[in-house]
Amino acid sequence: MTGFSADWLSLREPADTAARPPALIDWIAPSLPRDRSVHVLDLATGTGSNLRYIAPRLGGLQQWVLADHDSALLRAMPERLSTWAVSNGAEVSAAGALLTVQGEGFGCRVDRLQVDLARDLDAVEFSRFDLVTTAALLDLVSDVWLEDLVRRCVAEGCSVLFALSYDGRIECTPADPLDARIRDLVNAHQRTEKGFGPALGPDAATRTIRLLERLGYEVLAEQSDWRIDAAQPQLQSELISGWASAAAAMATSDRALIDAWRERRLAWVRDGQSRLVVGHVDVVGRLR
Ligand SMILES: C[S@@+](CC[C@H](N)C(=O)[O-])C[C@H]1O[C@@H](n2cnc3c(N)ncnc32)[C@H](O)[C@@H]1O
Repeated sequence: MTGFSADWLSLREPADTAARPPALIDWIAPSLPRDRSVHVLDLATGTGSNLRYIAPRLGGLQQWVLADHDSALLRAMPERLSTWAVSNGAEVSAAGALLTVQGEGFGCRVDRLQVDLARDLDAVEFSRFDLVTTAALLDLVSDVWLEDLVRRCVAEGCSVLFALSYDGRIECTPADPLDARIRDLVNAHQRTEKGFGPALGPDAATRTIRLLERLGYEVLAEQSDWRIDAAQPQLQSELISGWASAAAAMATSDRALIDAWRERRLAWVRDGQSRLVVGHVDVVGRLR
């Protein structure tokens, strides 16, 4: 599948942080242990942005395992964590591969696990974890893989927090006549293989909610839309260019039309007129 660069993950992290509804953490917290460290597994962690979001909001003592197949992202994680800690009044220390993060009201021990989650979910010991989380992963996975994941979480009694699944909504301002066609092509591209079988794409969140409810979870879901304004021109430009490439891959004969759409939208970004909304959904589940 296409790799995700540390730069791209850094670019999107502020939009993710602004988009996520913190109430979901308050809702899931009572299902987690209070008399010992909470053990958290972050699947497809990238450089660990999900830890940076959840850990201070959850509070207390935590032990995290950050899992990803990309060794470069896992290597970049300590530096990203240290940079974040400096601007958030926290401290990071390292003892070999183990990291410790100490902040106001929370403390985490952090391990990394390099694993191909598409091929080797058996390498993950779900029984060790109270909370299984992931951010911006479930739209990449197949229905079969998602059901396998949720069944493993049920079997081990894990609460779940699945953040930032893209839900198919893209709203661009100013409006352009080609916007709806591009969105439809992007959504078709979202459903193509991303390494886990045919991807759920925009159906990920609704499918996750249904599956969790069917397998015994009490579920809460809220929208976590990116609302990107003129203050984030680089994120806007990357998104528009990425959408144009995905659309062109699905409709090669429309490449000239799609290139012209991209140039119109990039000009609006340069003029400071462009606004984008990208629909996401966050889902939490605790076993009944
Ligand atoms: C959209 S990024 C999200 C990263 C991170 N959760 C965040 O929110 O910044 C998707 C992540 O999935 C990881 N990934 C993709 N396929 C994977 C696989 N087969 N096994 C493990 N990780 C995978 C990528 O390396 C990347 O870090």
